[in-house]
Amino acid sequence: MLHILFLFSLILTSTHVLAQDFCVANLDGVLTPSGYACKPESKVASDDFVFSGLGMPGNTSNIILAAVSPAFSAQYPAVNGLSISAARLDLAPGGVIPMHTHPAATELLYVVHGRITAGFISSSNAVYVKTLTRGDIMVFPQGLLHFQISSSKRPSLAIVTFNSPLPGLQILDFALFANDLPSSLVEKTTFLDDAQVKKLKGVLGGTG
Ligand SMILES: *[C@@H]1O[C@H](CO)[C@@H](O)[C@H](O)[C@H]1NC(C)=O
Repeated sequence: MLHILFLFSLILTSTHVLAQDFCVANLDGVLTPSGYACKPESKVASDDFVFSGLGMPGNTSNIILAAVSPAFSAQYPAVNGLSISAARLDLAPGGVIPMHTHPAATELLYVVHGRITAGFISSSNAVYVKTLTRGDIMVFPQGLLHFQISSSKRPSLAIVTFNSPLPGLQILDFALFANDLPSSLVEKTTFLDDAQVKKLKGVLGGTG
């Protein structure tokens, strides 16, 4: 009897929490804070739940010698509403994913091959950094600044997962040096000197 009651309450609880099984994004609609509207279930097929975009290396011929290939709602509409997403990180030798945060998600990184030095900085300004090798995982708590740097003479590959289909991304150096915030204000707020700020704005495409 107790068992039956327990089962019954489990069913009640889960149906209450999960009103529908999934909500494959209708990308033609608008993106709201709670995600995209759902594609009608009659139009959802097996293919919607599969994404092959992480199967190929990203192009690392760029300033950071690294590439991030996301599988967020916009690329992989099936994760809309499901509190999960993923991305592929390719790091060429010397590559770096610069200091950044995901305001809306915790990240779990899994090293498929290569060597990656990864770290994050806590709210109390403590640094947690490790060099990871194949098979290692490392977690980056939600909202904290973190980075990944190649520690290999060969390409490194990692898969990262997030507990949100829309993790968000803010890159520290881009926020500081890749926009039109006047150099005088950047200098005031960072304590960097004018030459350093102008140099980084030049490299990263900022103005002012
Ligand atoms: C990679 O990006 C570089 C720079 O944008 C470009 O010249 C090159 O053709 C790209 N390579 C591939 C394989 O797409």
